[in-house]
Amino acid sequence: MSAPVISWEKDHLTALDQTKLPLREQSVELARPEDYVHAIRDMKVRGAPLIGIVAAYGVAQAALNNQNEQFAVFEQRVRRTLANLAATRPTAVNLFWALKRMQSVFDDNILRSPQEHARALLAEAKAIHGEQVEADRAMASNGAALIPKGSNVLTICNTGALATGGEGTALGIIFEAHRRKRVKRVFATETRPRMQGRLTAWELHKRRVPYKLIPDTSVGALLSRESIAAAIVGADRIAANGDVANKIGTYQMAVLCARHGVKFIVAAPRNTFDKECPTGADITIEERNGDEVRKVGRCFVLPKEYAVWNPAFDVTPRELISHYVSQEGVEPGGRGNE
Ligand code: MRU
Repeated sequence: MSAPVISWEKDHLTALDQTKLPLREQSVELARPEDYVHAIRDMKVRGAPLIGIVAAYGVAQAALNNQNEQFAVFEQRVRRTLANLAATRPTAVNLFWALKRMQSVFDDNILRSPQEHARALLAEAKAIHGEQVEADRAMASNGAALIPKGSNVLTICNTGALATGGEGTALGIIFEAHRRKRVKRVFATETRPRMQGRLTAWELHKRRVPYKLIPDTSVGALLSRESIAAAIVGADRIAANGDVANKIGTYQMAVLCARHGVKFIVAAPRNTFDKECPTGADITIEERNGDEVRKVGRCFVLPKEYAVWNPAFDVTPRELISHYVSQEGVEPGGRGNE
């Protein structure tokens, strides 16, 4: 990968602008708390773990930028940034998990000076990032063992380095399985309307892993014609009962995999498992601007006044899942050992 997905540069964060890839590899500088809010909301950075990491750096940025203010002003600005970041995207629990960690660092040592707070918050953001890199490594190794030699695999959205700032979740497993000669070819769905499949193609292309980008509508045809060993997908939130919220299109892929006897594997770090959320029905599903559907790329293909529905995620029930892979190992899903 040419430029790093994100990198802390002394007093600000630089991030690859994912809205421009793969045609342009261009970075954006995030130097004010509102830059972080816009980058997450506009999906310049995206993917559940990366959203959490970038939000953590956003809180540190607010502290650094205000460390010479009186404590009351400093505190008010840090808390406002926490609230603004929490309002960016509702589904990925990693965002709220990371913000809670940042808030605890602040609240647990409230008597520190603004400068001390800023140092501690930046160290915490770096720690959150580092832990994700480690989790990705362990997940890759745990998941690769599930893929038989010479397999074709299927995936959705982008779950690679661009989604975690490490090696990735589902795509990290695919990279590791490819290194172990277990992956012959990856089929990756385009993932309308935001086309995260182009990001997956970019990562696979760079690493010379054989792949084909396929229309979302072709998954049924693919599974009925090609031998596919497994679908491997990420997650934005896993409820206590094992239901999984992930990119829109995941549920229909899981249904088709069950129909064709293809393993359906969900890969996610532990902080994606939300014990406080009882079932998939309790997960807030983000609905994004209808223009994302009215447009193809930058071009409107539907007049503004035409009605559309644009849910960004769906929920796959536990019964359709073969395995959950995390940094701690592999757990069975509701499809058991079939
Ligand atoms: O809307 P996005 O692109 O942020 O959605 C990303 C996904 O749904 C991923 O599959 C999920 O975050 C897991 S990635 C590690």
